[in-house]
Amino acid sequence: MARPKIALIGAGQIGGTLAHLVALKELGDVVLFDIADGTPQGKALDIAEAGPAGPFDATLKGTTDYADIAGADVCIVTAGVPRKPGMSRDDLLGINLKVMKSVGEGIAANAPNAFVICITNPLDAMVWALREFSGLPHEKVCGMAGVLDSARFRHFLATEFEVSMKDVTAFVLGGHGDTMVPLTRYSTVAGIPLPDLVDMGWTTQEKLDAIVQRTRDGGAEIVGLLGNGSAFYAPATSAVEMAESYLKDQKRVLPCAAYVDGAYGLDGFYVGVPTVIGKDGIERVVNIKLSKDEQAMFDKSVDAVKGLVKACKEIDGSLA
Ligand code: APR
Repeated sequence: MARPKIALIGAGQIGGTLAHLVALKELGDVVLFDIADGTPQGKALDIAEAGPAGPFDATLKGTTDYADIAGADVCIVTAGVPRKPGMSRDDLLGINLKVMKSVGEGIAANAPNAFVICITNPLDAMVWALREFSGLPHEKVCGMAGVLDSARFRHFLATEFEVSMKDVTAFVLGGHGDTMVPLTRYSTVAGIPLPDLVDMGWTTQEKLDAIVQRTRDGGAEIVGLLGNGSAFYAPATSAVEMAESYLKDQKRVLPCAAYVDGAYGLDGFYVGVPTVIGKDGIERVVNIKLSKDEQAMFDKSVDAVKGLVKACKEIDGSLA
């Protein structure tokens, strides 16, 4: 059987890391696409040359021609510009919206059956715009944010509790921004919810609050440290987890920016929610019951995303 074809639109920091991970995990053959001629070809060749030592079997091709993504099973989109220190994800909106238009058209024309994972920021608005520009079914277009946000949360919690990250689960809802909603009562160590761990003296409420805030600021912390770009290892690893669930029909329960129609009081809107990812794409949105406070935080986050979508419509009349 032919290997799956994975198209990476954008061959920058995240795109290159994605290509390396996909090859190492032998998830399929890779096409790296970028508008900066030379970059995708150079990265593809460099990673292909790592194959014998890896060892891994995968073909990698770098290109500036959308025709090369023809028939891709998965497209992961990182095309656009990343943040610089002092910028919020929202500051990228105008520039990256134009990029989503060309990427959406390129995917629609060449890989209309692909499962599309958007990473470009501001995430929730960009995944919505990408879906609009591409016209693909809603369940085949989603955004990577929740897996990354909850991975950051899990990392901080595991470090605080001195336990394996494998035994920490975390739940993050809402938009991928300052208003994201880490849900402590649905986050656990081996099934024990975080509020119980506070009662058990494993940590204090103050420390837990600080971890929640650090999770919200997780992207900015990396931007501040790097000084000339944004995070790429953890975002790429998170997107590969989603792609793998689709390609292998694993039906993993993963939080991602998905089209929510009916659940959470939303009618047709992209925002971070728990989903089931399998061979049909986003197969289910898991609709959990929120407390009054949690619902208020979620609503605030949704409002922030709605503001960005409105700004997109003002910039590009074809989206209105
Ligand atoms: N089509 C294809 N590629 C494009 C386009 C376009 N229209 N415009 C820009 N690119 C390419 C750039 O040439 C660059 O190689 O996108 C790549 C982006 O790579 P980086 O600048 O290294 O950014 P990266 O760190 O990979 O982040 C990409 O993901 O997390 C988000 O905020 C981040 O929006 C940013 C995106």
